Amino acid sequence: MTARTCLAIVLAAGEGTRMRSARPKVLHPLAGRALLAHVLSTVAQSGVTASAVVIGPGEEAVAAEVKRVCPDAECFVQSERRGTAHAVLGARNAIERQADDILIIYGDTPLVRPGSLARLRQAIAGGAAVAVLGFRAADSAGYGRLIVENNQLVAIREEADASASERKSALCNGGTMALAGKSALAILQRIGDHNRKHEFYLTDAVEIARGMALSAVAVEVEEDEMRGINTKKQLAEAEAVAQQRLRQAALDAGVTLIAPETVYLCGDTKFGRDVVVEPFVVFGENVTVDDGAVIHSFSHIVGAHIGKNVSIGPFARLRPGTRLGEGARIGNFVEVKEAVVEAGAKANHLTYLGDASVGANANIGAGTITCNYDGAGKHRTEIGRDAFIGSNSALVAPVKIGEGAYVGSGSVITQDVPPGALALGRSRQIIKEDGAKRLRGLKALRDKKASG
Ligand code: UD1
Ligand code: CA
Repeated sequence: MTARTCLAIVLAAGEGTRMRSARPKVLHPLAGRALLAHVLSTVAQSGVTASAVVIGPGEEAVAAEVKRVCPDAECFVQSERRGTAHAVLGARNAIERQADDILIIYGDTPLVRPGSLARLRQAIAGGAAVAVLGFRAADSAGYGRLIVENNQLVAIREEADASASERKSALCNGGTMALAGKSALAILQRIGDHNRKHEFYLTDAVEIARGMALSAVAVEVEEDEMRGINTKKQLAEAEAVAQQRLRQAALDAGVTLIAPETVYLCGDTKFGRDVVVEPFVVFGENVTVDDGAVIHSFSHIVGAHIGKNVSIGPFARLRPGTRLGEGARIGNFVEVKEAVVEAGAKANHLTYLGDASVGANANIGAGTITCNYDGAGKHRTEIGRDAFIGSNSALVAPVKIGEGAYVGSGSVITQDVPPGALALGRSRQIIKEDGAKRLRGLKALRDKKASG
């Protein structure tokens, strides 16, 4: 048997009014990534052969996020928001290519698992024309209800249109469904807008399929998977679920989390073996941590590669473009951005390394700043291997410090330092033997004048 083809359609054109935010709903972050990025990555893990995303008019930021996380996905614009079925038909060109299975997922349902999408596809492969994920909600307010009779799904009723007895239905509509590719278009085109909101409801697909003598089934999943995000409160609740899952996965993979409930992970964080993460650490997107690294408390890490046996923090900030070689040390109150710090190099205290390279075993003294920005452009600082930068030095980029060079503390370095050279970039110290006594005397005289 050849593998079945599958088109996934993600709906992301809703306005998200209930979020009360200028940001499109599907771009709100959950576990460090946009809601939409979660859905697209779940879809990608479910063996789909094509993906389509339906976005609202003028939503360039949403289109850009699609391109970034799933460059192969096709974007379609729903010019008017006339309901979920209307949105699906926005991707008509893709539907007409007739995949075996069509998965439809709402962009505001980020916790759905790839395994559940696989179960929907199995139901379609087994002969159903429509398969829908349902769940038992602790609070069913706002969800459509699945009406199930004799193991067949007979209808989905939106809450506003449901009768009192229909509202008591045990299963709520999670909003994720699969359609058989061969009948999908015929079903979708028959959906009308005869309901209270005058919208084209995707949920009507069930009754229409039944009317065409096709079968529809419900597939039950856990409530946590189906949390739809319409409000900031629901976003916070979903964050708790997402973090719980990620912490569990990290623990299962052997990461030591001393206080798991205080560590915030990102969906794509990758850990090696024997990594220790102390309490209160935040991980953003695109972080890899190699074997044996220790991340001390209160560190914030985004877009960084942390090499083997590296030590970070406490209170370190690693920003995108950070690459730390084996055994490097980034200590307290150190910020690193777009910088490579090679094996064994150390910046232990109070430092900014931006747009820089630091050679192996170099020592960056406390208070060293790479002055990478001159108000107009960014410039690079290159520090050679085994170099020593004395405390409280300003390295004014673009500038190179040669291999093994030594920069005296308190220097302002504006010119390249050749390999092996000593650079003292500070004004000469002046000593006046009697100076302290004379200074105090002058002060006392002045105070006396002022009071007298
Ligand atoms: C929908 C379901 C409801 C289900 C709930 C689960 C329908 C009619 N109702 O209700 O049965 O219990 O989800 O979370 O499907 N969208 C568009 N274009 C539109 C309208 C919506 O792209 O014209 C997108 C939204 O961006 C969102 C998704 O479709 O991602 C769902 O829309 P939303 O308004 O949130 O539907 P619910 O009222 O939550
Ligand atoms: Ca919703």
